[in-house]
Amino acid sequence: MKITDFEKYNISVPRYTSYPVITDWAGFKPLDWIYSLINGYTLEIDLYIHIPFCEKLCYYCGCFRTITKNKDRADKYIDKLKKEWEIYTKLFPHIKIKSLHLGGGTPSFLTPNQMHRLLSILTPYKSKDFSGNIELDPRTAKDEHIKILSEYGFRSASLGIQDFDLEVQEAINRIQSFELVSALVEKLRANMFNEINFDLIWGLPKQTKKTVTESFKKVLKLRPQRISYYSYAHLPDRIKNQRLIKEQDILMGKEKGELFSIAKNILLDDDYIAIGMDHYALKGSELACAYENKKLHRNFMGYVSHKSDALIGLGVSAISQSSSGYVQNTKDLKDYEEILNKGQLPLVKGHQLNNEEAFRATIIQEIFCHGIISKVDISQLTNKLDVSKQLDQYVKDGFMDESQKAYIVNELGFQFIRVIASVFDQYRTKTYQFSKAI
Ligand SMILES: C[S@@+](CC[C@H](N)C(=O)[O-])C[C@H]1O[C@@H](n2cnc3c(N)ncnc32)[C@H](O)[C@@H]1O
Ligand code: SF4
Repeated sequence: MKITDFEKYNISVPRYTSYPVITDWAGFKPLDWIYSLINGYTLEIDLYIHIPFCEKLCYYCGCFRTITKNKDRADKYIDKLKKEWEIYTKLFPHIKIKSLHLGGGTPSFLTPNQMHRLLSILTPYKSKDFSGNIELDPRTAKDEHIKILSEYGFRSASLGIQDFDLEVQEAINRIQSFELVSALVEKLRANMFNEINFDLIWGLPKQTKKTVTESFKKVLKLRPQRISYYSYAHLPDRIKNQRLIKEQDILMGKEKGELFSIAKNILLDDDYIAIGMDHYALKGSELACAYENKKLHRNFMGYVSHKSDALIGLGVSAISQSSSGYVQNTKDLKDYEEILNKGQLPLVKGHQLNNEEAFRATIIQEIFCHGIISKVDISQLTNKLDVSKQLDQYVKDGFMDESQKAYIVNELGFQFIRVIASVFDQYRTKTYQFSKAI
C-alpha cells in the first residue's frame, strides 16, 4: 500500500462497539429499556459488573476508573451494586445469569472477602450453564481471588499485560515482570481456567520493532487462548493522564503500523488466527472455533462465542444492551449512589434502535466478526449506490475482494476495518474526536 493511501485512510473513526455509536444516541426513555427486556423473550442474560477502582494509574489508560488505595470504598460500592441488582430481580424474579463479566477498572482491586460478598449476591440467579470471565491485573490478583472465582465457576480470565519490556513499562507507569505474569497464568490453569486472554497495546511509548518482537516471544511462551492487541488511542486533549506520556517517545502513522504487523506475523506464523481488527485466537480454542463456524459475536466487552438477547450492565458507567437498544449508567460515582438511594436505576443515556439502525448494526457486526458484506444487504440500503461506489474503491485499494454475492475483507482491510464499517454509519458526517484507525 502506498504511503499516501495509508495516510488517506488513517482517519479518526469510532470503534463501533455499538451502532449507532454512543455519541449519536438520542431520545432516551428509561421505560423503553425495561420494556425491551420484557419483549426480549428471555430472562437468561449476560451480566457485566464494572468495578471502577485501580490502585495505581497507568499513564496510557483510557478506561473509566478512579485511582484509590482505600478498600472501604469498594464495600460501599458493593452495597450499591446490590441495590441496583435488586431493582432488576424485583422486576424479573426469574432472571438467570448465563454469563458474568467482571470488568473495570480493576476487579481484583476488591479484597478476596469483598469479591466473595459480591458473588454471593448473585448466586441464587446463576443459570445451570453459567460461565464467568474476569479482567485481572497481574499486580493485584491474589491466590485467594483465584480460588474464590474458580469455586464460583469462572473459567476465563483476561490479563492486562500491555508490554513485557521494562523500559516501556516504566514509560507507562506499570511495572510487572514476566515471572509475575507467568506464575499467575500457571495458578489460573491449575484452578481450571481454560480460556486466558492477554491484553497488549501497540503504539506505547518506547516501543520499537525489537521490543515488540521480544514481548511477543514471551507471550508465545505462555500460550494464552486469546490475545487482544489494541492500537494505543492517544487523546491527551480529552484524557488528561495521557499528558504524562512524552509524545517524542511514541511512534505514529506507518511506523506505528509496523508495531502491529510485526506482532501479527509472529502470531500467524505460530498457532494463532486473526479475528476482526485486533484479536487473535489460538487454533482449537473456543473463540477460534466460533470464528471458523461463523458463530462469532461482538458486544461492549469484545468478541464472544455466544449471542444472548440481553446484556445488563451494573455499576458506574456500565452499558446495557438488548436487541432493541442500549442504555448507559451515570459515570458519576456520587450520582450513581444518590439515584440508587432513591430506588431508581441509575440510567442517564440510551438509544432505541429503529429498523434502519438495527439493520445497519447487523451489517457492522458481520464486518467486525467475519469481514463479510452481503450484496443483498447493500441492495436494501437507501444509499446503496454511494455504499457500492465506496466499497468498489476499497477493492481497488486492496482492502477487500469481491465475489458475486459479497465483499470480503482481506488481511490488509482488517487493519482499516473501522474505516470500512464507517461506510454504513448514517451519522458519520458529524465530526467527533475518535482515535485514528491505526
Ligand atoms: C478496561 S482495561 C481493564 C484491564 C485492567 N484494568 C488492567 O489494566 O489490567 C482493558 C484494556 O484496555 C486497554 N486500554 C486501556 N487504555 C487504552 C488506550 N488508551 N488505548 C488502547 N487500549 C487501551 C488495555 O489493554 C487494558 O488492558
Ligand atoms: S489500564 Fe487497567 S489498571 Fe491501569 S489504570 Fe487503566 S483500568 Fe486501571
